[in-house]
Order: sequence, then structure tokens, then C-alpha cells
Amino acid sequence: MAAYYPYAQRYPVNRRMPEKGRPRDEILAELREMATQEDDFWQTGQCSGTMYCGDMEHYAFMTEAFGMYSHVNVLQRDMCPSATRFEGEIIAMTLDMLHGSEAPEGASPCGSVTSGGTESILSAILAYREHAREHRGIDRPQMILPETAHVAFEKGGHLFGLDVVKAPVDPETTLVDVDFVKDHITDRTALLVGSACNYGYGTIDPIGELSDLAVEHGIGLHVDGCLGGWILPWGEELGFDVPVFDFRHPGVSTISADTHKYGYGPKGSSVLCFRDKELRQGLYFVQQQWSGGKYMSPGIAGSRSGGILAATWASLVSLGREGYLRYAKKIFETSYAMQDAVTSHAELKLMGKPYFCFSFRSNEFDIYHLNDFMREHGWRFNGQQHPNALHMCVTRPQTQPGVVDAFTRDLAGGVEYAKHPAQEKAKTGAVYGGLPKGDTAALQFVEGVMTQMLDAHQGVPED
Ligand SMILES: Cc1ncc(COP(=O)(O)O)c(C=O)c1O
Repeated sequence: MAAYYPYAQRYPVNRRMPEKGRPRDEILAELREMATQEDDFWQTGQCSGTMYCGDMEHYAFMTEAFGMYSHVNVLQRDMCPSATRFEGEIIAMTLDMLHGSEAPEGASPCGSVTSGGTESILSAILAYREHAREHRGIDRPQMILPETAHVAFEKGGHLFGLDVVKAPVDPETTLVDVDFVKDHITDRTALLVGSACNYGYGTIDPIGELSDLAVEHGIGLHVDGCLGGWILPWGEELGFDVPVFDFRHPGVSTISADTHKYGYGPKGSSVLCFRDKELRQGLYFVQQQWSGGKYMSPGIAGSRSGGILAATWASLVSLGREGYLRYAKKIFETSYAMQDAVTSHAELKLMGKPYFCFSFRSNEFDIYHLNDFMREHGWRFNGQQHPNALHMCVTRPQTQPGVVDAFTRDLAGGVEYAKHPAQEKAKTGAVYGGLPKGDTAALQFVEGVMTQMLDAHQGVPED
């Protein structure tokens, strides 16, 4: 199979630096062409997650804010006091939304702005490891997470040398087995993890019960609100049946909440909130003796663009509480309407009790046959496994008129198709990040597009 390389037919492939620079307008035209084509794909509202705001005017506004600071390195703080203002206010607004003020007397809630959910989770794990080493003398700490927790936790265990214990979840509710967690706490346990909500099913772990365990054993509890942290609080305020998952539970010591998801900021930002600054100490890195000068950085990254902070801040203050509530209301309503369409089919089953994003499976047929049909009709869900299921994360593009009706209609068609599929084996499968258009087999997809992602680190393929 010839190596797949995107746009090779249309544009020159840069195997080496062009001898002479190209005119800016030509480059911008090329970029615009690709961006427009790629935007067309999700603007139909048929694509799960990933495009949270979907409003091109909002994107243009953030781009303008980004442009003023894109060249600024926020590590050089003396040159950009604005970065301290942006960062401080992004953290303050996030803490406020997550009830950081409920911290007990003497505690100082604080935070860190990172490049995304994964970095927030990695940073939390690093902070807990350092704390466990310094305050409890634990050389190799352990963390206990629901098996539905995001894979970034395993990545963190791998990178920072923590043992990962995975707690099973109830197959019906999809929520973590708290008794298992309780039984596996040892004197090496640095933290417990709960999700609000988990990526897979959009369900919220029993944070209150995990918090009780954390308090009882004097250990940490990280709530992964990367996906839900910037929408569930508004859902609760609007009166939807959202359980408390934040610092109002006394055992919750850190929460990650991604501003680049339902904060509607540009990609590349998330906030890691701490109940108390003592735990955050583990994230500062200081080297006084380096020949390059005394060095200090507040987190994992070194240089960072001021543009991300400026645009994220601009997103938050331009929407305000009123904007976030308005967007959340439509997203919750749309999600519940889509869930109603799913539950109207006896052949389909929702996974647990979801909120703004949901997942469904079937006991009657291979759900990937249904996915094949939906794919042909322009839908891009996320394929899941153990059990096979389809995931739909509702974002603003789905709140456009007509999308719920199209979903309801196509789902009905998909159910009928899946009962009598045109071929024995479904073409699509369980791959994070969606599947190709057309009839490319899932395996080819894995071989093609995923390896392409890895190959990109080695440059462009040979002819
Ligand atoms: C619950 C949850 N946690 C963590 C992450 C990781 O976030 P990111 O992809 O921004 O690193 C995601 C991403 O979808 C998520 O849904």
C-alpha cells in the first residue's frame, strides 16, 4: 500500500526547506483552502466532541487576541505582566466556578494553567508524587483509578513512576466500585481518582464517597473535570440533575478543568486547580546553579506562548456567566433529546446515566454496523470497546436547528440496517478519535492514519 500523505496531490510536498521563501498571500490561500475544507466536515453538527464552540466569530475574536501575544514568551514575566493578569484571572475564575472558596480556613486554593487535559493530569500526578515522597517518605507511590478514567493517568503513572491500580466499574451504572477502591488503599496510596465526567460514558463517579475515603485515609483525591469541569457547574446551576463533584466535597484536593473544551478557549489550555498551595509546590522547578542563570519554572513546560493565555482569558470574559449558562442549557437539552432518540429503540441501550455526552450499545446486533450506516450519512462518533459502544459528545454544533431531527431519523435507519447489514463484518471499529469516511476498513485506518501520525515525527514519506 502506497504511503498515504495528506494533500500530496494538491500541494507541493516540502521534503526540505524551500530554497526561496514563498509569498505570504500564496501560503495563506493554501492554508485557508485546507482549513475551509476541514471545517466543512464538522460544521454539519454531525461530529462528536472536539469542536466545542463552533462559532466562527468567536474563533476570529480569539485569533485576534492570540495574535497580539502569540510571539510573547510568558516565561519572561518581567516583559509581560499581562500574562500574570491573564493567568491569575483564568485560575481565579475557574476556582470560583468550582467552589474553591469552600476550602477550609487556612488553606489557599490555587492553580496552574497547562497546555491541555493531559498536561493537567500529568501535573497533578507529579505534584502528588512529590508530596508523597517529601511528606510521607513513599518512594514509589500508588494511585487508584476507575477503569473508565482517562488514559492520561496511566501515561502519568508510566512517566513519573507510580503504580496504577484500576478499580472496576459497575457494568450497568458504569460508576467506580467504591468498595474495591476502599479495599485497595495501602500506605503507598498517594491519590484516588474520580471523573466528572469520564470521557467514555459521560457519567460521574460517586465523588462524595471517594471524598469520604480520601478524608478518612488522609490521601489525595483528583477529580478529572477535563471534559465536564467547564459545563457541569452551569448544568447544576440551571437545575439539571448534576451531582456535586467539586471542592464542596472536603476530600477533593485537585480538579482539572479544560478551558480548551467547554471553556471555548483555543486548543492548548486547561486549568489544574488545587485546594491548597502546599501540594502545588511539587510543580515548581528551581535550579540555582545552572550556567544559564538561576532558573525557575512553574510547571512542566518551559517557554509558553502568551497568545494562549490571552485568547483563553478573552474567551472567558467575553462570554461571562450568562454566556456559559446560555450555551450549557442548549447543550444539555440537545443531549437529552438525542438520548431520548436512543432510548426510543428497544435494541439500543444507554451506558449508565449520562449528562451532556453519552454512549450507547446494543445487545441485539454489532453496534459497528449501525456506525457504518451513520458514517455513510455523515456522522462521526467515537468507537468504543469492552463493551463495543458508540460515543457522542454533544457540543454547540449539535445545537443548530435540524441536527437532533437528522440524528433521530438516521438512527432509526441505522437500527434497521444493523439488523440486516449488507456485509457480515462491520467496516468501522473502536478507535479513539473517529474513523475514516467511506468504506475504508477499520484495520486499514489503524495502519494508515494512526501510523501517519507517528510517521509525521520522521518527516514525509519517500516517493
Ligand atoms: C475526561 C477526560 N480527561 C482527560 C482528557 C484529556 O484531555 P486532552 O486531550 O486535552 O489532553 C479528556 C479528553 O477528551 C477527557 O475527556
